[in-house]
Amino acid sequence: MSERRVGLWMIGAFGGVGTTVALGLAALRRGLIDNTSLTTTLPIFDGVDLDGFGDFVLGGYEVRKTSYRRSVQEFQQRSNVFDPAIADACMPDLDAWGENVRPGTVVNAGATIERLADLPEAHRVETPRAAFEKMKTDLAEFREKHRLDQIVVLNVASTEPPFELGEVHETLDQLVPALEKSGAPLLPPSSIYAGAALELGLPYINFTPSLGASIPALAELALKRNAPYGGKDAKTGETLMKTVLAPMFAMRNWKILSWVGHNIFGNRDGLVLDDPANKASKIKTKDQVVSSIVGYKPQTHVSIEYIESLDDWKTAWDHIHFKGFLNTKMMMQFTWQGCDSILAAPIAIDVCRLALLAQRRGEAGVMKHLACFWKNPMGVEEHDFFKQFLMLEQYARTAREVPATPLPAAEHQDCTLHHHTHGETTSGTTAAVEMPGNVRAVPVAKD
Ligand SMILES: NC(=O)c1ccc[n+]([C@@H]2O[C@H](COP(=O)([O-])OP(=O)(O)OC[C@H]3O[C@@H](n4cnc5c(N)ncnc54)[C@H](O)[C@@H]3O)[C@@H](O)[C@H]2O)c1
Repeated sequence: MSERRVGLWMIGAFGGVGTTVALGLAALRRGLIDNTSLTTTLPIFDGVDLDGFGDFVLGGYEVRKTSYRRSVQEFQQRSNVFDPAIADACMPDLDAWGENVRPGTVVNAGATIERLADLPEAHRVETPRAAFEKMKTDLAEFREKHRLDQIVVLNVASTEPPFELGEVHETLDQLVPALEKSGAPLLPPSSIYAGAALELGLPYINFTPSLGASIPALAELALKRNAPYGGKDAKTGETLMKTVLAPMFAMRNWKILSWVGHNIFGNRDGLVLDDPANKASKIKTKDQVVSSIVGYKPQTHVSIEYIESLDDWKTAWDHIHFKGFLNTKMMMQFTWQGCDSILAAPIAIDVCRLALLAQRRGEAGVMKHLACFWKNPMGVEEHDFFKQFLMLEQYARTAREVPATPLPAAEHQDCTLHHHTHGETTSGTTAAVEMPGNVRAVPVAKD
């Protein structure tokens, strides 16, 4: 039995993905399910020092008055997923983990998400600094209470509308003083959470298209605090198909003329995406992949419609019109029918295991080797699923063959956002070294 204990802090803990991650981890640790659909249990990861499923303790943020128990029941009633015997057996874990969930914030999350939040604490107007400090206190309590060796922060909260960046987001020197001010929106909640996680030197994953850590000042912070991070927007269904099929059209030298994709689903994610502002974030990440793979821009159309009766069952119809030999036009059509949260949760578990590993290996900055999991991979232009997967395989080989170089835990060190001094690193001193598919920060010996 392993003695390690790792914390998974989920933002949006009681949502569809959050609940399925919790149930999945509980079922895995109890040996009630096999490892189907978990990439990190493939043979390429044999011998890689990943955390066991039984090592995880869950906590997180939520803005609705609910619980894992209620969320599981809703899923069973509305979407007819989750074997009741598995759900019942796992309920003690879910109840215990639910106790670790705290109220998050929806300040600057946009009107649709604000309407969703029925926890009064979620609406309290505070400075960004106060929100940072709250998260740091909550995470410190979580770590101490459960004697955790490591914590990973995972954003599985509702998709926020796009957020305009300005001069103030360029560097930490500009961002830090602005954190004290209330009033004009400085950061959406996803970036407040990302900033607090990175400030604590914790690995951070953005499973959503929201802004999160995609801010130059936060990239700077991650390197200062030796924190690995990754995202954005998990590639679970229709977009996964696009990045698998588009390389085929490219390799056969067929010319894609148009690619139309219609998506319908009825879960809470769909409800939030029904707001055109929130939908804009999602369409952007779904629409860019084909042209990036084939190198030209076919006519594309992506629609996402909220159809309540479908609940968590998503259907996508794709129609691909292409030109073959002698100018003959042909078409391919496919239908994808998947249960959204069931597709998403194993990916969330995989990327969290990999993020914890990356930190133990002394890596900081964007985890480029996770590209195959994202619609919009940070720090990587490559969208071809097979090329992305090669990056992951190469990383797994390196992780098996090159021993880890642990870095000092940043949580115990001075706070960069408080005591930031230009040109100085608080935690030490990292030098970026190019690794296959990743940037590894190697600790430099201090005198
Ligand atoms: N296949 C998938 O399910 C999939 C794939 C890719 C990306 N995603 C993204 O993952 C996210 C979660 O999807 P879901 O289906 O679980 O949605 P969901 O609506 O069921 O869950 C989101 C949860 O986040 C909570 N929340 C919203 N704002 C919050 C905040 N500021 N702080 C804390 N909690 C907050 C909500 O109350 C809700 O419980 C969405 O952004 C979605 O676009 C999902």
